Amino acid sequence: MGLSVIILAAGQGKRMRSRLPKVLQPLAGKPLLGHVLDTSEAMGADDICIVYGHGGDQVRDVFSENSLRWAQQAEQLGTGHAVQQAMPDTPDDNLVLILAGDVPLLTTDTLHALVDDSELDGLSVLTVDMPDPTGYGRIVRQDDAVTAIVEQKDATPDQLAINEINTGVMVASGKNLRRWLDDIGNDNAQGEYYLTDIIAMAVSEGIAVKGIKAGDPTEVMGINDKKQLAEAERAWQARAVDALMVQGVGFADPSRVDIRGTLTCGQDVYIDVNAVFEGKVSLGDNVVIESNSLVRNSDLGANTVVHSNSHIEGASTGESCEIGPFGRLRPGAELGNNVKVGNFVEVKKSVIADGSKVNHLTYIGDAEIGSDVNVGAGTITCNYDGANKHRTVIGDGAFIGSGVELVAPVTVGKNANIGAGSTINKDTPDDKLTIARSKQVTIPGWKRPVKQPKD
Ligand code: UD1
Ligand code: CA
Repeated sequence: MGLSVIILAAGQGKRMRSRLPKVLQPLAGKPLLGHVLDTSEAMGADDICIVYGHGGDQVRDVFSENSLRWAQQAEQLGTGHAVQQAMPDTPDDNLVLILAGDVPLLTTDTLHALVDDSELDGLSVLTVDMPDPTGYGRIVRQDDAVTAIVEQKDATPDQLAINEINTGVMVASGKNLRRWLDDIGNDNAQGEYYLTDIIAMAVSEGIAVKGIKAGDPTEVMGINDKKQLAEAERAWQARAVDALMVQGVGFADPSRVDIRGTLTCGQDVYIDVNAVFEGKVSLGDNVVIESNSLVRNSDLGANTVVHSNSHIEGASTGESCEIGPFGRLRPGAELGNNVKVGNFVEVKKSVIADGSKVNHLTYIGDAEIGSDVNVGAGTITCNYDGANKHRTVIGDGAFIGSGVELVAPVTVGKNANIGAGSTINKDTPDDKLTIARSKQVTIPGWKRPVKQPKD
């Protein structure tokens, strides 16, 4: 039996007060709808349809790579009407799981509890006990079966006292959904076509409607405004950090770290406060990330230490490297093993081989640095001539004195020494000391100027 997923995402999300459509608002660095899509795919759906309306083109552009069906709901006439827009191409014999694009925290565990128990001739609803059910549709049960869902605005005082609410997630066959949705009307307090009206229809056909309760209300939380978005962000972060702690990752404070993407860790990784991880990051065994560091789309080898306040993006390191404090690795920085990149050092699109050290106040761009090289403080690879970028090559074992400018394209030989303060614009030979600076002189008879008295 195939599984279709219909994701309702046509609402405008006015309460976000944003130019960005609600379902594109980022949670943990990914659009809300992206989370729902990931979950749908993880459920093994063979057909995913998004019902879109407001900001439709913008939404479609973001997910143009995914294989999806799109159904437009030009006017938002209610959740029933929304699902109806997706029905023409939904297979009759598929189970159809209805999700909302603004409910991003649902887990596949919870959805499996709902879907795996569903039958083609049945109807199942995901519910949850809400401490404060205000605003939600209430679940009315008789014996164990659900007999109706009553919206807040249509509910009697007795019904308003019910804490079990409709999460909006439902499962039925394509065939039945199509049939039921063709029959719903909008004769209710909001003049909308309610999806929830299909419950009474199923009941009238003698179907025992299943209400499956989710364990955790935050999981089914819908996001309507920035406050709820921030709450959901914390919940998502707590979940991500919990999962890492279970795997053995150590955190100085699990509430002071942000993971916006996927963080993969080896054994005995330790992460200090205010570390931020974005995109795809992997940390080898024993990696330490000190406070206030950002690591984005990078792979750090075992035993590497990132000292405080470092910024690492699109970089990779071998084992036992040290970066920072205040180190910056930009895209294309590739460090070998035992490489040190110290404070206020910026490395861009450069390879630095095993055992080399660039410890202080330096810019390395478009360079290829061999092994066991020492780059002195304040060295600059002058890689840009105003129009083009050029490469600097430094041979194994070279020693670059402090304050050296390497005007690219230029090659420094193996085991070469460059005198401090040199401006090097020609290749230098292996094993030799090269100095390129004017000779020091002391000026005889020179006097420091003195202030003229004012009259
Ligand atoms: C709906 C349910 C309610 C449930 C609540 C859970 C109905 C009638 N009510 O109420 O029982 O407790 O969700 O959050 O189903 N949408 C469209 N097109 C529309 C209307 C809505 O795509 O015409 C989408 C929205 O973008 C949103 C989802 O459907 O993603 C839910 O819509 P919303 O207006 O929030 O429904 P509620 O009235 O809150
Ligand atoms: Ca809602």
